[in-house]
Amino acid sequence: DWTSDAFAETTIADLKAQLGDDKVVLALSGGVDSSVAAVLLHKAIGKNLHCIFVDNGLLRKNEYESVLEQYKDFGLNIKGVDAKDRFLGELAGVEDPEQKRKIIGRVFIEVFDDEAHQIKDVKWLAQGTIYPDVIESVSVNGPSATIKSHHNVGGLPDFMKLKVVEPLKTLFKDEVRRVGNTLGLESFILGRHPFPGPGLGIRIIGEVTAEKIAILQEADHIYIQNLKDAGLYDQIWQAGAIFLPVRSVGVMGDERTYENVIALRAVESLDGMTADWCHLPYPVLAKISNEIINKVRGINRVVYDISSKPPATIEWE
Ligand code: XMP
Repeated sequence: DWTSDAFAETTIADLKAQLGDDKVVLALSGGVDSSVAAVLLHKAIGKNLHCIFVDNGLLRKNEYESVLEQYKDFGLNIKGVDAKDRFLGELAGVEDPEQKRKIIGRVFIEVFDDEAHQIKDVKWLAQGTIYPDVIESVSVNGPSATIKSHHNVGGLPDFMKLKVVEPLKTLFKDEVRRVGNTLGLESFILGRHPFPGPGLGIRIIGEVTAEKIAILQEADHIYIQNLKDAGLYDQIWQAGAIFLPVRSVGVMGDERTYENVIALRAVESLDGMTADWCHLPYPVLAKISNEIINKVRGINRVVYDISSKPPATIEWE
């Protein structure tokens, strides 16, 4: 019968045999799958694993810094790439969700390809693909998914010509978490909610701007922190705030305000294919709403999404 200890041990030995002294490049997303894949590979080949973590400017508040810090503590050979301005520049003026996804995917590949070129004699591309990705072929999370879904757009970037190594290919999500646990990864990484590759780029409805990102990051941070403080975070499949392209009237003191709306989403799900909205306790919602409206400039109204999937999707775009 399957144990995570035995899986980790055999996989590390197999990777050692397969990869020898070859260099491997891997895109880290901060998510569970790419992190566990990276730690397994690191245990097998050490510094020959070159990890790249791209800041697309569409991550949660402080996410880039805190995730990078965690990975460094783990001894990973990792390069952080600040590509915020490049993503933002390419997204300027674009409103259509699918077009935004394509741009974010393409720019990610360009940035990653540039970085991969700087690693001399790299032979392998490692990916955190898990079993459901293999069977569905359309996967949901992280850069590996981004790479796959843009596979056949134009010519292949050079790193796509590398040999592929996918150490988690036979595992389900809960098994990946157990392996991560065996390897000593912390709940900070293992317990996180799924987060889409295009990030806040598809949680800002319509055009993405630096100002909207900053507002959404603050509101989302207050939301998630309150879910953690209330002990609810681990019971929720996925939660996040959404910036709506709507302004509404409010009052502050004697002044009339005309500001933006934040929608809060939290769902229960087993696999993301279907989902129910979470019946969050009113006192928690009340506290979150007050805190967002009082602390985040530019927001005067907070609404809670009570739609299930189907017919609604988890994301709004
Ligand atoms: P939907 O909105 O389709 O989302 O109900 C289901 C799951 O997929 C994630 N999602 C994405 N992940 N790139 C990704 O890597 C995407 O473009 C994308 N769109 C949705 C979503 O966060 C949820 O977990």
